Amino acid sequence: MKYYIKTFGCQMNFNDSERLRGILHSMGYQPAQNWEDADLILINTCTIREKPDQKVYSHLGEYKKIKEKNPKALIGVCGCLAQRMGEELVQKAPVVDLMFSSFNMHQLPELIQQAQAGYRAIAILEEPPEDEDRLWDFPTIRDNQFCAYVTVMKGCDKNCTYCVVPKTRGRQRSRSLESILSEVRALVEDGVKEIHLLGQNVTAWGQDIGIPFEELLYRVAQVQGVERIRFTTGHPKDLTENIAKAMGEIPQVCEHIHLPVQAGSSRILKLMDRGYTKEEYLEKIEMLKSYVKGITFSTDIIVGFPTETEEDFEETLDVLKKVRFEQVFSFKYSPRPDTPAYSMDGQIPDDVKTKRMSRLLELQKSILSDIASSYENTQQEVLIEGYENGKFIGRTRTNRWASIKGQGNLLGRVVKVKVISSKPYSMDCELLE
Ligand code: SAH
Ligand code: SF4
Ligand code: F3S
Repeated sequence: MKYYIKTFGCQMNFNDSERLRGILHSMGYQPAQNWEDADLILINTCTIREKPDQKVYSHLGEYKKIKEKNPKALIGVCGCLAQRMGEELVQKAPVVDLMFSSFNMHQLPELIQQAQAGYRAIAILEEPPEDEDRLWDFPTIRDNQFCAYVTVMKGCDKNCTYCVVPKTRGRQRSRSLESILSEVRALVEDGVKEIHLLGQNVTAWGQDIGIPFEELLYRVAQVQGVERIRFTTGHPKDLTENIAKAMGEIPQVCEHIHLPVQAGSSRILKLMDRGYTKEEYLEKIEMLKSYVKGITFSTDIIVGFPTETEEDFEETLDVLKKVRFEQVFSFKYSPRPDTPAYSMDGQIPDDVKTKRMSRLLELQKSILSDIASSYENTQQEVLIEGYENGKFIGRTRTNRWASIKGQGNLLGRVVKVKVISSKPYSMDCELLE
């Protein structure tokens, strides 16, 4: 039996798919080369904006052809769109045989059995079930040998007024320290060097079990063999001075943080219910710089939130100029059903969003080209993750892609390099040792 998984959305969804692969492998399934050869197709969905929703329906339209060739093949939908839509999704797409969400991925074996017996297996729960921790009993199956995601927290307790995540992923639930550390130990034994801790709001990890997030950083760093640590996504509000201090103190924590600002105008930030002002965000950036030497930043921006004026948008551009992010993920505001912002007055027309977006991209392009050239002739440490077209590739501690000419087997090794030339999204480097 062969499976094919198509994944949309954030890194947590990708990590969920890696866990689903682990469950399927434990059932004897093997990966299919492409969907046409599969006996089971799973779409792990995202519903953060309208576009990903549409992609799911168009993929279902394509995948349903599999039943002509292989009538016993099963099509499943899981993830955030499944959670948000429930039975309505099956009414729209009757081809779906099984459906569940991130709450109950561990029930996949039972759901497959039901579907194989000819029943439509739908298990969309209102709340996460008590036995959801059974999920951690399954290993993940990863494509990247050396860098591994580790989900440490599920759900989100913030209420950003544009966001569906609290509804699709439920309340914040921190995974226990023991469970995380035992996964980290197993990963290191498997050859992993870089641990990437994941949560929608990862800096809030531990709040519900009475442990501060920095404690997790210290404990992961104590596991023998962990060479690098990253974490995503930090929320500015929960990013305390103790966390910044730990980032500076722990040698394995990389000098980079993804810290979504969303908007530069404090008025808009208030309407978004982000819990900080523009000034407070910029103070967090300064605090991080003071504890973590050479730290770089990336961020998420929403353009055209309801009532956003030209002046508000200028404030966003101002944050870009002040912080000089190495990466900016920008999105046009997309109204999501059942969120407070959906029914706010002052929705912004699409052509205005598009114009603002291209101004933002233009500005970021020039900032990034300056940043890129500032890397030339510097020394960097790179963890080699792969080998492509005669070159080793990997990321610097500051999260930039580097390619390196070299001999021998450098895979999985941290090497020192000198940057020869640097373009916005890649750098050519020379091995120093
Ligand atoms: N937990 C993370 C973000 C998760 S969603 C955080 O708090 O920052 C990833 C990104 O999608 C968000 O940072 C935001 O920029 C974007 N996003 C979320 N909802 C959106 C919406 N309704 N329209 C446009 N972009 C949205
Ligand atoms: Fe969504 Fe806000 Fe939670 Fe991020 S912090 S997942 S944007 S509600
Ligand atoms: Fe999308 Fe769900 Fe992640 S809505 S961004 S897959 S948490």
